[in-house]
Parts: sequence; structure tokens; C-alpha cells
Amino acid sequence: MSSKVFVAGATGLLGGRIVDALLDRGASVRALVRPGEDAAKKAAIEALQARGLEVVAGDITDPPARLAEAVGDAATVISAVQGGPDVIVDGQANLVHAAEKAGAARFIPSDFAVDVTKLADGDNFMIDWRRAAAARFRGADLDVVSVLNGAFYEVMVGFMGIVDWEGGTLSHWGDPDQPLDLTSVSDTAAYTAAVALDPGATGTLRFAGEVISFRRFHEAVQRGSGRRLELRDLGTADELRAEIERRAGLTENPFDYVALQYQWCMVSGKGKFDTLDNARYPQITPVSVADFVRASS
Ligand SMILES: NC(=O)c1ccc[n+]([C@@H]2O[C@H](COP(=O)([O-])OP(=O)(O)OC[C@H]3O[C@@H](n4cnc5c(N)ncnc54)[C@H](OP(=O)(O)O)[C@@H]3O)[C@@H](O)[C@H]2O)c1
Repeated sequence: MSSKVFVAGATGLLGGRIVDALLDRGASVRALVRPGEDAAKKAAIEALQARGLEVVAGDITDPPARLAEAVGDAATVISAVQGGPDVIVDGQANLVHAAEKAGAARFIPSDFAVDVTKLADGDNFMIDWRRAAAARFRGADLDVVSVLNGAFYEVMVGFMGIVDWEGGTLSHWGDPDQPLDLTSVSDTAAYTAAVALDPGATGTLRFAGEVISFRRFHEAVQRGSGRRLELRDLGTADELRAEIERRAGLTENPFDYVALQYQWCMVSGKGKFDTLDNARYPQITPVSVADFVRASS
């Protein structure tokens, strides 16, 4: 198999790290990049180009023939795009079609979440789109290999709203001893690159930097940051589900409560991984929550 990898979403948080990890491993990488004026994104892509990244201009909603030309002789196509159903369902189905046309052997969709295979429609609308996309890929003439990572550490200590650094609190729903699958963005990227370059990787692969309860997560964040944070219990997983329903009744915009849907998928245990595939790639030593927080404090 050619080791060339095609990446869509390379200007994104995860996609850029995936390109970085692939280049670290000596892979030949081509990225599909939409034309844009964002100076920081341009600079990030230029830095990757200086390391050997090949860039082709385009959009995953481009006509399949044009997109197939962009994919060229890549053996594996990775999608790290983010967006609505036009991107996640229709765009990724279009990209798979183009990858098939180009003769690629594998497609890694933009899943990168809790265990999407265990959830039901309605649990999380953004995961519903990924499940709808997976249904569209079925029957494709290439292998679809899904990489799951639980939740990013960056999200858990950042924009999920769990840690209030100014207020000095760490708030959780559900049983504080329910194990959660968590991974840093860089380690998710390293595992994705390893999967992309592993001809034997098939099906759904699940990775976690740490499997850790909210109680232990709280301790790790305190240890890493050197800060004392009050652990606040917001209610049970069932109460969280009711809160999501309540908010859904108050807004037309589901993004107002999607962070709570992600938390419900974790704290209810429904999106928990039953097995981990970390051992398949022993060369990757994922960072712990405490070390991650220490390095970013
Ligand atoms: N498990 C977790 O905790 C967690 C947290 C966050 C994200 N994720 C997942 O990680 C994946 C990547 O998310 P992210 O946060 O890295 O996304 P992001 O930073 O928003 O980047 C999205 C990327 O998609 C590209 N894109 C969007 N529409 C496109 C199109 N039509 N054609 C080509 N490229 C397009 C964007 O290009 P432009 O720069 O041109 O806009 C950008 O490169 C998603 O599956 C997301 O759900 C998981």
C-alpha cells in the first residue's frame, strides 16, 4: 500500500496535529485546504508545508471528479472536518465517493468522539450526523476505519465549562466514580496517524489517554495546576437528561445545549468504551491529565 495520506480539515484543531504526526512518522501527506484569508491558519499551513506537506486547494463538497483528482494516489483519506450535516453527512459522503474514484483503500471519518456505535439517535445531535454519515459510507468500495478518543482533555478543562478557573470550581453531573475516556488532541492525532499508516487497522479503534472518573479527574486537575478547586455536584445523569430536554424546549439552537449532550453521553456511561486499542501502538505513550494540565498551566 502507498503510504501517502490525504487529509481534509488540516487547518483545524485536530487536523493540523494529525498532519504534524504523520510528517513526524515520515509519511507523505497531501492536505485539502479551502482558500481563506485567516492569517493564523495560513501561517500554520505554511509551517507544515515547510516540513513537506503538499497542499491542494478545494472543498469536500467539490464535484467528486475534481476531488478525486485532489486525492490522487493517496492510499488513505482522513477527514478531520467539522461542520453541520452539509459537511459531516453530505460532504463526507462526497469525499468517500471521490476517494473510491481515486482508488484509495481506506477512509477515516471525522468521528473522534465517545463510542458513537453505542449511542442512539437523539442522544447527541452532532453524533447523530456521524452515525448518519456512517450509514451513507456502508457499501463503499474502501475500508472505513473509525478512530474514537472519548473527550479531549482540552475540552474538559476548557470550553466545556466544567472547570471555572476564575470561580475556583470543577462541576460535574452524574456519579463521580463513573469512568470516562479522555485523550489530549496531540495523542488523538498520534493514534490517528498510527492507524492511517497501519495496513492491518480495520473497523472501529478506541483510544484513551486516561480512563478516569470525575473524582480522579478533579484530583488530577488540582495536582497539575497546583490550584484548589471546589468539586460541585450538579445532579444525577437522569437530571442532566431532564435539563437537556428543558433547555431544548427553550431554544431553537441545539448548540445551546450540545455541551450537555456530550457530558450526558459520558456520565451516563452510554458512550463509554468497552475495550481500548492503545496496546496496538505501544510506541505512543499518552500524556496523563495531571501532566497535560501542568504543561498548560
Ligand atoms: N472528542 C472531543 O472532545 C472533540 C472535541 C472537539 C472536536 N472533536 C472532533 O474532532 C474533529 C475535528 O474537529 P476540530 O475541532 O479540529 O475542528 P475545527 O478546528 O473547527 O476545524 C474544522 C476543519 O474542517 C475544515 N472544513 C470545514 N468544512 C469544510 C469543507 N466543506 N471542505 C473542506 N474543509 C472543511 C475547516 O476548514 P477551514 O479552516 O477552511 O474552515 C477546518 O480545517 C471533529 O470530528 C470534531 O467533532 C472532538
